[in-house]
Formats: sequence, structure tokens, C-alpha cells
Amino acid sequence: MQYGYFDDVAKEYVITRADTPLPWINYLGSDGFFSLISNTCGGYSFYKDAKLRRITRFRYNNVPHDEGGRCFYICDGDTVWSPAFLPAKTPLDFYRCRHGLGYSAFEGRKDGVRAALTVTVPMHADMEVQKLVLTNESDTEKKLTVYAAVEWCLWNAVDDSTNFQRNWNIGEVEIEGGTVYHKTEYRERRNHYAFYSVNVPIDGFDTDRDTFLGRFRGWSEPQAVEQRTSFMSVASGWAPIAALRVSVVLQPGESGTLLYRLGYVENPADKKFESLNVINKEKAHAMLAAFETEQQFDAAMDARKAYWTDLLSRFTVKSSEEKLDRMVNIWNQYQCMVTFNMSRSASYYESGTGRGMGFRDSCQDLLGFVHLIPERARERIVDIASIQFADGSTYHQYQPLTKRGNADVGSGFNDDPLWLVACTCAYIRETGDFSILDAPTPFNNEPGTEVPLLEHLRRSLNFTVTHRGPHGLPLIGRADWNDCLNLNCFSLTPGESFQTCSNFESGKAESVFIAGMFVKYGTEYAALCDRIGLSEEAAAVRASVKEIEQATLESGWDGEWFRRAYDAFERPIGSRENDEGKIFIEPQGFCVMAGVGGPDYGKRALASTEKYLGNEFGIEVLHPCYTEYHDYLGEISSYPPGYKENGSVFCHNNPWITLAYCTVKDGNGAFDLYTRNAPAYIEDKSEIHRTEPYCYSQTIAGRDAKTYGEAKNAWLTGTAAWSFVAVSQGILGIRPEYDGLVVDPCLPDTMDGFCVSRLFRGTRYDITVRRGANKGLVVDGKPIPGSTVPLTDAPVCTVERTI
Ligand code: BGC
Ligand code: NOJ
Repeated sequence: MQYGYFDDVAKEYVITRADTPLPWINYLGSDGFFSLISNTCGGYSFYKDAKLRRITRFRYNNVPHDEGGRCFYICDGDTVWSPAFLPAKTPLDFYRCRHGLGYSAFEGRKDGVRAALTVTVPMHADMEVQKLVLTNESDTEKKLTVYAAVEWCLWNAVDDSTNFQRNWNIGEVEIEGGTVYHKTEYRERRNHYAFYSVNVPIDGFDTDRDTFLGRFRGWSEPQAVEQRTSFMSVASGWAPIAALRVSVVLQPGESGTLLYRLGYVENPADKKFESLNVINKEKAHAMLAAFETEQQFDAAMDARKAYWTDLLSRFTVKSSEEKLDRMVNIWNQYQCMVTFNMSRSASYYESGTGRGMGFRDSCQDLLGFVHLIPERARERIVDIASIQFADGSTYHQYQPLTKRGNADVGSGFNDDPLWLVACTCAYIRETGDFSILDAPTPFNNEPGTEVPLLEHLRRSLNFTVTHRGPHGLPLIGRADWNDCLNLNCFSLTPGESFQTCSNFESGKAESVFIAGMFVKYGTEYAALCDRIGLSEEAAAVRASVKEIEQATLESGWDGEWFRRAYDAFERPIGSRENDEGKIFIEPQGFCVMAGVGGPDYGKRALASTEKYLGNEFGIEVLHPCYTEYHDYLGEISSYPPGYKENGSVFCHNNPWITLAYCTVKDGNGAFDLYTRNAPAYIEDKSEIHRTEPYCYSQTIAGRDAKTYGEAKNAWLTGTAAWSFVAVSQGILGIRPEYDGLVVDPCLPDTMDGFCVSRLFRGTRYDITVRRGANKGLVVDGKPIPGSTVPLTDAPVCTVERTI
């Protein structure tokens, strides 16, 4: 069942009913001001940091869910309704939400009035602008009273939801014409305030939430709205809001437009005030003036659309697979940009108050956006590498505001360092910018410790080589990619972190997954060394790769698939010897991609993967799921069977299997798996899948779960980047290389070819792939051996590839 449809021309997902199984959201903003907006206009805004600069309040476990956010009430006679259904909940005659790239547009109709609400965060503006166009489609005059309201968060989202003994005393606002300024804590150390404003004279306002709503009421039925009045309340402590009331009179056929602006301002310390405790509103006035008219708003929408058109034009495909095209051309790349902006911080599942930037997460996200924003990718790589320690190990996370490693979580996730090699090599292949290897990069952010970035990569590999266990395989530490496989943490204390308790440093538990990673990325590093004239180092790294590959073949192969690990007592995990967790997905993906054991092992491992782990929505993490808690395995066994790391389809690693299929040249296998959880392909199962059909979610409950097929944790997942790599570089086979662009597709029998337009190092490559007798590559009319299109200075290059 579907709750909407894709409009590929407009690059929108159109939601046709408000009662989606969960709030289906969109992200607005790309610079500093960000908003989350659901299909019923819920969500929240923040400036740069969802914890420290939260602008509007959101209650993650509210009942009903997703109430609040942007509250619009249209009062028409006795009826009160909201254009996006919430918060008023009055049944609408018509409802539609269009989530587009960087904007969301709602249309609600009731009793002859049409409300078209478009919300965006303009480029380079620290504000959200909401354009509300009301049209009288009836044949009588309409006298409407319109309210718009937001609830302020007291900046620090954690304090805001915990420190009430203080919070209920500090709220402060100022009101000036049609603008409410939220200035809590500005009187002391803060130098920022927010505002909410409408571009017409108001009839009234409220800024104290409890006065506006009234006792025993929620946002669905404010007392002020019910009485068609405003109490002109001025918040002093408690919960400050901005609720603005205007009247709109419309003759039949007439339209009226209102522009609402939700903005954020920072002032220098010496320019904070205009007079005693009165805030300096100069910047706010300028921002409001910049969005005072409909024309200004429309121009901002055009600029935003142009930005996305340009960005997405860097990689486009046209094939016989409409859904694949839709994912590649629009939604998958869009999600990659969202993970660039948000990492794992702010969604409807990630509270914005927890994790900062993950070392491995950010390295992997980069694989999906490096072709879109290479300059920012460069900066990101250096930021990430700067939290590494001199021995090659690294902090697991860092705070985006300070760029400092997070000491609470610390280090010890032994896959982390290798992801730095992965993303740096990907960056250089994309850009040809070898100079990044010289970028002075500190250890642990300590000034004076800077070494060239290359040295960080070297130490990353060296860390793996020098931290190996009884079977010669890499030590796992606290965990590898699978955060929940905690083989050195024997936690028995409720609430304790499974991942950081590290109370049993066995020095023995090993990871076959890291071994596969090392073979893959060690080989990539050696190739890089060759490029920059370090042939001895290349040879030495290749020798280590061989050693670890050998160890994997000797101790990591179980007979029909790759084992997962060895525990603290040297017992295999992910082996037929185990009763549960006999086979895991991760090593099948990485060892096969790395070519360990060649195509023979690869094909056998993939056949076992499908046989034991395959379900209708993809490949589960492990099988059989753990049915009870084992302290020697850690968090993985804490989840009920079928959920999260204990046997869901953890979407992030499914593209590894897609790529593994491509490695063994099985186009049917690759495509079949790709389509099992690519959102556009499962749109018609939305009532089961439940999360947005236009973005990937972290997990889909596995066969053993009570809610098999249900997805959770939409948007902020490494699935976005890896899926884009799998489809663009694996299935379509367009891969950036140091010396050119490889065109080496791995198509299913059902696809005869495709056209791709790809911007690469300043040249637009127009690539046509088709099946035919004369196999080979023709570049600008000339046959070329192999599958690499050489670099060129020409602005356009035509490529024909016959397969
Ligand atoms: C989750 C993992 C996640 C980790 C982050 C665990 O509880 O299951 O998916 O990576 O927390 O710390
Ligand atoms: C989510 C984390 O962000 C990621 O780093 C990890 O690899 C997966 N969970 C699997 O545990």
C-alpha cells in the first residue's frame, strides 16, 4: 500500500494522506540553519548543533507523536483547521504534502478555502521562511482568522528537557510589531536570539504557552484560538512561544499571502544590546527585509532549486529501470547530502543530543558525497584524521562544534582507523588531489603534532598489523563495524554501556571482518603508494596484506562462508560450530569484495549468505538470531531476535553484498538484492515498511521479529552512502580511478544498457552502455583497450561501452 507517489519531474515525493504510518520527514537547510519537517508540519529547527543551539522544541516521545512544530490554525466561521492537518486535526477536504529538495509544500482545503504552505530555509540565510497563500474558492466572502505559532526551546536541548527548576524562571521575549523575539539567557552569556515574524500587521499575539493553550489543553485546541482572540501574554519564565494572529478577508476567487520568518541571530559581545537589556535587532531587521515579499521568497526557492539541479547533475542515469533512476538521480544522492550535514545527530530517532560525528560513520558517508562536494570532503577528512592518536588508534567520535575527540566514548573500535584509508583513497580517485596527503594534520588535535595526512594513513594500517591475535587476525577491541559485537566487555550491570565497559581486555578477541577490510584497503593503500613513488612501502604493505589474507583463509573460512570473529576465549563466532549466530553478513561482504579466496570462495560465501540470511527485504545481519543474552558477546545479544544488530536487515551492510556480487560478476544477484530494500522499490509495501519510501532506514526487522519488515531509524544511516556506491560503482560500474573513469557495469539480464552523465575532474562524460557483439570501449569515436576512459582536458567526452 502507498501513501503517496514520486513526482520525478518536480523531484518530489507527494504524500496524499496525512495518516502515514510514521511522520515522514524532510530536511531543510544546508549551511547553518537546519529544520526537520514532517508531512504534518511537525519537527524542529536548530542552528548548526542540535544539542547546543536548538531553536524550537520537540518532544521525541510525545503523545500524540509529532504534535507541535509549526502550528497553523485557520479559523473560518465555527471551523478551525490546519493546512497540514496537525495540530488542529480537523478532517480536510483535501490534503497533500510535497517533500522536495530543501523545501516542503503543503496544500490543505476546507470549506472552500485553499491553503498552500511552502516552507524552506533559503541558501545562506539563517532562517526558515514559510509562505502561506490562502485562496477563497467559494462564492461568498471569507473572513478568516489565522494563527501561527512556534514553541521556543531554551537553546540547550538537554537542559531544556531536564533542568526545570531553572528553566521555568528564565524565559524572556520581546515583542515588536509582528515579531516575537526569543531572548532567554541573552541577558547574560548568550549572544544569540531567535525571532518569529509575519509580514503583515498583527491583530494580537501570545508569548506565554500556558496562557495561549489554556489549562488542560494541547496544541490541537488552544484556548486563544477557540475564542478567536489573543491574550497578549508576555512570557516571563515558564514556556515562551510566539503565537501571531492576523485577519484575512478574501472575496470569492481572491488570494492573500502571508510570509512567516523563523530566524536566528548572533551578535558580537559589544553589540548585544540597544539599551538596557533590550536586544540589538539590527540584523533581524535586515533578515526580515530580505524576506518581506512573495517575490523575494520565490527567488529564494528558485535559487535553492538551481543549487540542487546543479548538484544532482553531477551524476545522472537514464535506464529502463524507472525506480533505479529515481533513486540514483534524486533521492539517494539527496540522502547522502543529508548524512553529510547531519551525520547521526538529528532526526526523529536521533535526538541530536547524543553522538557527535562518528569516525567510521563520517568516513563512510564521504564515499557517497565526495563527488558532490569535493572541497568539503577534503576538509572533513582532515577534521576526522585530526582526532587520531599517534599510534594509529583513534577516538570513536568527535563534536562538530569543537572538532575535538569525545573522551567519554574514547577509542578502541579497531575498524575505525582503516576507514580513513578508505575515504582518503576515494577522495583522491575522485579529485586527483594528491596534495591532501601533505595536509598537516595533528594527533588528538594537539598543536605542534602535525604530520602529513599520509602519515595518518600509514599509522592506521600499522595499527592493524601490530594488533593481532592468536590466529594472526586483527584484534577487535571494543567492537568493529558492528558496534554491538562486544567481545571484551562482559557487562552484567543494567544501564552500563556495553561498548565502553571494557572489563575483560582479553587481548585475544579477533575480527575476520577487519581482516577483510585490511585486505581491501591495504591493497588500495599500496596502489596509492605506487602512485606517489613509495614502491618499497607498497611492497611492505602488500606483504602484510598477504599475511592477513593467509590468516583469513586458514582461520577465517568456515567451509561454506567466512567466520565472523574469535571471542575472548579463542572460540569461533559465526561458524557452523555455534548454535546461534552461525553466519554473519559483514565478513561475507568485505572478504568477498577484497577477493579473499578468489571467486570460488566468493560465490560460495554469497550462496550461503542468501541461503541463511536472505529475506524479502534484504540480507539479515546474522542467523540464527541470539535468543538469550550472552555477556561474552555483548550488546548484540541484548536485542530481541530480529531487531537491530541481532538479525535485522541492517541496511548499511547490504550494499556490501551487492558489491560482493559485482566482484564475482553476478549482475543478477547484485540487482536483485539492490531492489529488495531500495526505498523506491518497496514503496508499495509502505504499510509494512512504515518509514519514508524515499530514503533508506537503518534497519528492517528480520524474520524472527514480531514486526517482520518494519523499518526504523530513517534517514541518518551509512546505507545512503554505501547504496550509492553499490549502484553507481558496482551495478552501473562507473568508478573514479587515479588515471580515468572506469566503465565496467555489472547488469542484470533484464537491463540492456543505460546512459549516464557524470562530471569527473571538470569533464562531463556522456556514457552510453549497451549490449552487443562488438564488446569494448569507444571514447570520442576511438576504440580504447580495457575499461578505463582516460582523463582529458576537454569539457565533454563521449563514451560508448558495449557489454
Ligand atoms: C546501536 C548501534 C549503534 C550504537 C551507537 C547501539 O545501541 O544498536 O546501532 O551504532 O548504539 O552507539
Ligand atoms: C550505527 C553506527 O552509527 C555505525 O557506526 C555502526 O557501524 C552500526 N550502527 C552498526 O553497529
